[in-house]
Amino acid sequence: MLTDQDPTPKLPVIVVGGGGHAKVVASALLLHHQIVLGFVDVNPAAPPMLGIANLGNDDKVFDYSPDLVRLVNGVGSIKSTALRQTIYEKFVAKQYSFEAVIHPNAVVSLGVEIGAGVQIMAGAVIQPGSSLGINAIINTGACVDHDCVIEAHAHIAPGATLSGGVHVGRGSQIGTGATIIQGIKIGASSIVGAGAVVTRNVPDGVTVAGVPAALLTSRVTSRP
Ligand SMILES: CC(C)(COP(=O)(O)OP(=O)(O)OC[C@H]1O[C@@H](n2cnc3c(N)ncnc32)[C@H](O)[C@@H]1OP(=O)(O)O)[C@@H](O)C(=O)NCCC(=O)NCCS
Repeated sequence: MLTDQDPTPKLPVIVVGGGGHAKVVASALLLHHQIVLGFVDVNPAAPPMLGIANLGNDDKVFDYSPDLVRLVNGVGSIKSTALRQTIYEKFVAKQYSFEAVIHPNAVVSLGVEIGAGVQIMAGAVIQPGSSLGINAIINTGACVDHDCVIEAHAHIAPGATLSGGVHVGRGSQIGTGATIIQGIKIGASSIVGAGAVVTRNVPDGVTVAGVPAALLTSRVTSRP
């Protein structure tokens, strides 16, 4: 985990992805004076990002031993978290590990569990008793109040607010600026639309939106 207080020497990192989310996590890494060897991207001609070189496509990672580098997942999610999860699982299966990244201006309380590869961006607040599953994103300015459970690969988008005791299922996305009242359970692989106010539990594999949030679509999900 990258925090200002952590004195442990860090392995250099490679950022997987070269788009908008990659730039945000790269910025947090550089603010921590982290050595970033480069980024990999589906576009091997993508220009340098914040002065960080493009190493080539994703397979360039395999030029580096998993004992000598850590990875940072630079793929975000706009509608589905599936690609981000796929990338995480592809490299973990090859023995690579993902570094958690916590922006120096995030507020993470005592008593918060943070899984591998979790990313907490600028201005986010996580309150005590909450747990963040592997590869989850708590994006810019999002608030996760006390005793929330954010399962693996979920994305809490910028400015979303989760009241106490909210449970967000695996791979779900809570849209920008959405509000979820206390104790609500959001199922796995679901989407909460931007600006929604969620006052009732949300099942697996659906999209809800609006104030109060209502079912927009029901989807067949391809992931567990
Ligand atoms: C909810 C969402 C996933 C729906 O996307 P979609 O399935 O492509 O839906 P569409 O854009 O086709 O819209 C379908 C209908 O829902 C409405 N709608 C879409 N998003 C809505 C929202 N957030 N709140 C209320 N209504 C919404 C549309 O106006 C449209 O209504 P209509 O049928 O009466 O015209 C998407 O609009 C959204 O809010 N995504 C979250 C984005 C986000 O937070 N990104 C974070 C990036 S870091």
